[in-house]
Amino acid sequence: MEMLQRPRRNRKSATIRNMLQETHLRKSDFIYPMFIKENGNPEEIPSMQGIYRWSLDDSFREIEECMEKGIKSFCFFPAIPEHQKDSTGTESLNPNGLYPKLLSEVKKRFPESYIMTDVALDPYSSDGHDGIVKDGKILNDETVEILAKMAVVQAQAGADIIGPSDMMDGRVYAIRRALDQAGYKDVSIMSYTAKYASAFYGPFRDALNSAPKFGDKKTYQMNPANAQEANIEAQLDIAEGADIIMVKPALSYLDIIAQLKSNFDVPVSAYNVSGEYAMVKAAAKAGYINETAVAKEILLSIKRAGADIILSYFAKQLADEFD
Ligand code: PBG
Repeated sequence: MEMLQRPRRNRKSATIRNMLQETHLRKSDFIYPMFIKENGNPEEIPSMQGIYRWSLDDSFREIEECMEKGIKSFCFFPAIPEHQKDSTGTESLNPNGLYPKLLSEVKKRFPESYIMTDVALDPYSSDGHDGIVKDGKILNDETVEILAKMAVVQAQAGADIIGPSDMMDGRVYAIRRALDQAGYKDVSIMSYTAKYASAFYGPFRDALNSAPKFGDKKTYQMNPANAQEANIEAQLDIAEGADIIMVKPALSYLDIIAQLKSNFDVPVSAYNVSGEYAMVKAAAKAGYINETAVAKEILLSIKRAGADIILSYFAKQLADEFD
């Protein structure tokens, strides 16, 4: 056959394929989410093989192993005992609580680590919602007031970047203002900008025992059918002071990642969530797929779509596979 262009020529050896590879996974692309509890032995989360709830002491060991592997960024989620939960998430503002204690210890022991925190009521809420509930409704403005205070408590304890995951309106501005007023001008905000009301969060809610006690999160998290609406959320978050915008989940929302990356000039992150992780683990355990190869392909696709940063439970396990 006569052909001037034969794309296969550029694929004929590993060397040329590597030379022409457009997307690379680097250790520095990743943030490793971790679940923390007050004390006791590490508990594996049944729906998330290889992911544990760590006591403070054990978490330091896990963090140290990650740091040695070149994974230096972490996002922490606290598992709060039921008796400390209430309708306004009071424990989230306790400066001597589990979470601030963890943040300050991690910063002290690992000065080179980069710490992302979670701002939302759900780990602390007796209703299992991200905001205050009244008569079956999630109150926006009352919740935002608490979120702003929570952000300051976390900044005080050593957070590098605050991650509001609650999807209340106006929270980025309120958090930015509260941080600035408290003197934390250098603390950044990674906003969960396009966070969808997704069924992929199931295993995470197992990990924190934080599933909503009634209803669902559809009055605040986005409809999975919507793409254009993500632009509104991004415009607002950036105008309100977000340094980085996030799309969550990642794999079923690659189009949204690509859209925000091309429409906006701030960095975009993506959260490869618990359900996405659990599916790979379960399929691998059943012998249906090659776990490492599939996980890497998924992470590569998230990066290729436009994510500058990826939050993934695979970060530690696959660290040696990254550049
Ligand atoms: C809640 C929160 C959720 C996740 C991160 N923060 C779950 C939810 O919105 O119900 C999910 C993360 C994951 O599934 O890995 N503020």
